[in-house]
Amino acid sequence: MFPIRAAGDLEDLLRAAKGYAVVAAWQANGLFAALADGPRPLSELPGDPRALANTLPVVRHLGLVVGEGHHVGLSALGRELLEANDLPGARELETLDDLAKMGAVVADGGPVRDDEGNEKVTDGGVVLDDPERFARFLDMLYGSSERSATVVFEWLRPHLPEHASMLDVGGGHGRYARVFADHGHAATLFDFGPVIDYARDRHGDALGYVAGNFREADVEFGGPYDVVLLSNIVHGEPATMNRTLLKRLAGHLKPGGFIVMKDMFLGSRGRDPGNAVFFGLTMLYHTRAGASPDLDEARGWLEDAGLGEVRVTTLEGFELVRGRKIGS
Ligand SMILES: C[S@@+](CC[C@H](N)C(=O)[O-])C[C@H]1O[C@@H](n2cnc3c(N)ncnc32)[C@H](O)[C@@H]1O
Repeated sequence: MFPIRAAGDLEDLLRAAKGYAVVAAWQANGLFAALADGPRPLSELPGDPRALANTLPVVRHLGLVVGEGHHVGLSALGRELLEANDLPGARELETLDDLAKMGAVVADGGPVRDDEGNEKVTDGGVVLDDPERFARFLDMLYGSSERSATVVFEWLRPHLPEHASMLDVGGGHGRYARVFADHGHAATLFDFGPVIDYARDRHGDALGYVAGNFREADVEFGGPYDVVLLSNIVHGEPATMNRTLLKRLAGHLKPGGFIVMKDMFLGSRGRDPGNAVFFGLTMLYHTRAGASPDLDEARGWLEDAGLGEVRVTTLEGFELVRGRKIGS
């Protein structure tokens, strides 16, 4: 789809946005669910008849719905996406609503504001005074981290001593730390106090826990550790904070130990890969100073922290940047 090559490609982008909005609206209004038991006439579906008649061709065009005339049924793909809970819905409609505020964000800066003018800002997706919401967010990340947590562990495995100690900074749901613990290593989760309470309910004694705010100068991380992991953390902070934090964390490494950043980094031309490019918008919208980090800059943070053997590896949709404490 990208880069665009002609004016017509812009039309396709707009069409994609319209199609996405229609699918999310059908889902948010329970229209796909209403077809779960089999095909029905359009007139039996909830919603404004003219709006249903005008949006039906769109969901048909996208291949989610089949049937002729005003008779409607789910396609095999539509059913699969519905059952897997993979269709966009009310939350994505809210995202589209926020995206319509891009003009104001570009003019005045992020975070994006709600209709009352309040900033929709988070700490790496977490809003501490709304435990139900942050639990939902961390549950979602826990679910989506199954594969990446294993991939990160397997990538580090050949470099780990027996019974290694690891610190998962901003570990949240704890899935990354837990893979280390399940393989006989001592894994410690660092996060805000309320998030630690949430993680302790999930993992109990399988992990160690340290509560704190990594932005504070006198924060205690414990250790020293063989591995310090920052998974999806540096994109939420400004470069100055990342440089300071990595320096601090380097002081909690054992000789030969590693700091590892897992993230979506921007390449040197600042236009790829697509996941980092577009994720930067989420950071603009929902953090005070976050951005998709620049890969070369991130290597520099590790070097400035006194680490050597800085290596970058691209794995499944993300990069791992690692530096090693050489000497004592
Ligand atoms: C995007 S989540 C990443 C969770 C996990 N590392 C992962 O990759 O799925 C960011 C996590 O960092 C934590 N966090 C953000 N700012 C923090 C801070 N200043 N001090 C401690 N934890 C923080 C959040 O509470 C949240 O659990």
